[in-house]
Amino acid sequence: MRLCREVSQFMIVLLLASSLPGAASSQTSTIDQRIDDLLSRMTLDEKVGQLVQYSGFNEDRAAAIREGKVGSLLNVTGAENTNRVQRIAVEESRLGIPLLFGLDVIHGYRTIFPLPLATASSWDPELVTTIEAIAAREARASGIHWTFAPMVDIARDPRWGRITEGAGEDPYLGSVMAAARVRGFQGSDIASPDRIIACLKHYVAYGAPVGGRDYNSVDMSERSLREIYLPPFKAGVAAGAGCIMSAFNLLNGVPATANKFTINRVLRGEWGFDGFIVSDWNSIGELVDHGYAGDDRDAAHLAFDATVDIDMMGDIYARQLADLVRTNVIPEALLDKSVRRVLRAKFMLGLFENPYADPEIEKAVILRDDHVAAARDAARKSMVLLKNDGALLPLSEDIGSIAVIGPLADNQDDLLGTWHAQGRPEDVVTVLAGIGRRAAPTTTITYARGSTIIGPERDGFAEAVEVARNADVAIVVVGEREVETGEAASRTALDLPGVQRDLIEAVHEAGTPVVAVIMSGRPLAIPWMAANVPAILQAWHPGIQGGNALADVLWGDFNPSGKLTVSFPRSVGQIPIYYNRDITGRPRTDFRYTSKYLDSPNTPLYPFGHGLSYTTFEYGDLVLSADTISPDGTISVSAMVRNTGDVAGAEVVQLYIRDLVASVVRPVKELKGFTKVYLEPGEQQTVRFTLGPRELGFYNQGMQWVVEPGVFKVWIGWSSEEGLEGSFVVSGN
Ligand code: NOJ
Repeated sequence: MRLCREVSQFMIVLLLASSLPGAASSQTSTIDQRIDDLLSRMTLDEKVGQLVQYSGFNEDRAAAIREGKVGSLLNVTGAENTNRVQRIAVEESRLGIPLLFGLDVIHGYRTIFPLPLATASSWDPELVTTIEAIAAREARASGIHWTFAPMVDIARDPRWGRITEGAGEDPYLGSVMAAARVRGFQGSDIASPDRIIACLKHYVAYGAPVGGRDYNSVDMSERSLREIYLPPFKAGVAAGAGCIMSAFNLLNGVPATANKFTINRVLRGEWGFDGFIVSDWNSIGELVDHGYAGDDRDAAHLAFDATVDIDMMGDIYARQLADLVRTNVIPEALLDKSVRRVLRAKFMLGLFENPYADPEIEKAVILRDDHVAAARDAARKSMVLLKNDGALLPLSEDIGSIAVIGPLADNQDDLLGTWHAQGRPEDVVTVLAGIGRRAAPTTTITYARGSTIIGPERDGFAEAVEVARNADVAIVVVGEREVETGEAASRTALDLPGVQRDLIEAVHEAGTPVVAVIMSGRPLAIPWMAANVPAILQAWHPGIQGGNALADVLWGDFNPSGKLTVSFPRSVGQIPIYYNRDITGRPRTDFRYTSKYLDSPNTPLYPFGHGLSYTTFEYGDLVLSADTISPDGTISVSAMVRNTGDVAGAEVVQLYIRDLVASVVRPVKELKGFTKVYLEPGEQQTVRFTLGPRELGFYNQGMQWVVEPGVFKVWIGWSSEEGLEGSFVVSGN
């Protein structure tokens, strides 16, 4: 057992990379001088003002901005609006310090892309970077400087509505996606006029609330924290994220917004994060509700001690901070440090030189053609083909008739998905419209809604059955309303809401082959569908180009390549269920006293990494570069992937490992690499991965990163459950 050197080297890289991208050192020192100068002229109230953030704009806000008592606003959008408000700060306040405008740009600004959980299912970090760059371009043109994204919370519980905002259950994939999104928002130079500051949220462990109930408390070991929940934040910090948002939840009895262990020690200390931290909405005030702070003054003190710089919409810093400094409870030098972090972001963005947005640029970039094309591409790359018995899909060109059924088939509002910023329903191409545009002129298309999403009425069933009976195929589009996912949208059931499951059953009984298209923000438990419906496509809430993208997939103009980044449970009772689980001392067998349910298999309905294609891929020739490596050595693992079908397609090739015996038991599988290959029919490619101390190590009982000697299994495969298997040995010293 030995501490690995690479990890400490990695830490050094992190320390250097932790500030916003773009500043050369001469520029940094100029910025520092300008901040020094400004700070020397600021009153105590003006300093505190930089740490105060409000939502929206009104006359009271205008007065506060004029007095230098506001540093940032959220939920004020549009070039003209933001300019009007900015003018008050720049032209009417004593020091003319510009405001930062923040917004939840979660999956697009006006061009709305699929939900983040959906785009993560593309396993395509470049795609993710591209769409975040588009989101940044539109947002910045509209006066926004800062997004409260990406949400990088790992989520293993689909009851939690916010699972939709993240990348799913895996820390490795989550880390890759976190970095990709940060790069997309911020680019290589945050001063560019089409970039915005990224804010990693919600720090930390917000994705693991007890019972899956949003805002509920979290209790977890330091190991789970470090191995599962912290890595995406660490990766986002390494990618240069300028901001972190502290979470609402309690973590092991201490609120995340005043948590000195996770913030001061890990984030600021171990990772060297020197960007600014914003609280979540009134999460400083909620320190009192949690029973952690005695009153608002105490709350301000505790959050400030944890280096939370900006108070989002809580009014606690505004009312308490100056007095805490005046009475020497908080040293003014510490206040200056916080103000410095906020001012640095404003300087780096170039706001002192260019505080205003240009309405002409805004007009030119919003819904630009290439943005809309990217939305279509992102939507089709996000869809996951869960099942396709008898090659029901793709549809044939000369199909005679199609029945389009279901409450999400002719629906614009819900396809936008939760947190859709400035997205508008009228921008959305519905499924019915997309199918109508794509189908051959000779194909008859009929439509019946069948039911609403949540209502109990079945009076539309008869018409749905009727149109299905008279068609060659029934495309049934079911799922969730957008308000059923996202913040404050936890559910105890994971069935299709309302009577939609009965609707599908009724249509299925008509005898026409059914393609079920699920538009949801989370995995739903769909065992009946999985057993009875021949084709199932998980399309998520796909954004403004959903209908066109779906048509691309239905006809095979685009061959689906998405893979699940969350396990699909059979029932709520299996939750939490995730592939990288620990093994029990009594793995399931027929013997009664083993780890199992009496009424359900242990396995998920569809596993992490699962997703079908219209072609077939064959894997072979697993080659390891060595039988044995030293603990600080590396090994390369390769396999040949061949397209053995008739059409071109992309395949996400996944690499998993398992450390068989360790001083802390390791999960049965852990994703440690992936790559997406595009292959023409008959084409093959060798895919190679390298494993080293970063992939093979773990935190030992003393919380040190170690690579331990012993046997490792390795798989290269097409899901977390299937692949080629090999093994190698890490030698002792
Ligand atoms: C509360 C949410 O938890 C957070 O994610 C969001 O950024 C803020 N509200 C601002 O809208």
